[in-house]
Amino acid sequence: MDAVRAAYDAVAPLYAEMFRDSIEGRPLDSALVTAFAEYVRAADAGPVADLGCGPGGVTARLASLGVTAFGVDASPAMVQLARERYPDLRFDEGSMHALDIADGTLGGVLAWYSIIHTPPEDLPAIFTEFARVLAPGGHLLLGFFATDDDSPHPAEPFDHKVSLAYRLSIDHVADLASEAGLTEIGRLRREPGENERFLQGRLLARKPTDKP
Ligand SMILES: C[S@@+](CC[C@H](N)C(=O)[O-])C[C@H]1O[C@@H](n2cnc3c(N)ncnc32)[C@H](O)[C@@H]1O
Repeated sequence: MDAVRAAYDAVAPLYAEMFRDSIEGRPLDSALVTAFAEYVRAADAGPVADLGCGPGGVTARLASLGVTAFGVDASPAMVQLARERYPDLRFDEGSMHALDIADGTLGGVLAWYSIIHTPPEDLPAIFTEFARVLAPGGHLLLGFFATDDDSPHPAEPFDHKVSLAYRLSIDHVADLASEAGLTEIGRLRREPGENERFLQGRLLARKPTDKP
């Protein structure tokens, strides 16, 4: 975690310049984030935390879609940039490993390319943390680098430009969500687009309600 934080601190201004809004120009991703916002608004279960928000572009996109959203990031430099860029939105320093967020209070969790740096053995704990902070009826949307290779290792390390990262099979990510008690709504497997090297995976899931 320290290495990831230091790596993003070091590249924050450059990263922010390159990725003002990491879903801009990616119609399928944009549509998914819009659909996520629609689910969140309809469920009306609380605000959305954009975990690993980086410079805050997707947090701002959610806000523009009528969702109350705030960002959390482990990198102080990223949080500072996000605050400067979007002074009307809230951005906190924090780690997905131990969120300073009360149980069952969020209507949504977005983790857009932030689980990619989590060592595979820590992923179950991160998903448990997602499920803990979501309110019943709350939604989870994940974006990540994907691989079709599900064996023998569900996570493949690669030389990400900023910090060691992993490609994850979509089935594996869906299993992690399910093991944390979340129900899959849908998934997307997208071929790499412009300036992308790998397959892209997205998963949308929901925390069940007690209602029948
Ligand atoms: C590839 S960037 C994505 C940023 C943003 N979501 C976007 O799409 O532009 C990954 C971000 O996740 C943050 N991050 C990685 N692991 C984290 C963790 N365990 N807790 C909080 N933030 C984390 C990094 O500091 C970095 O800002």
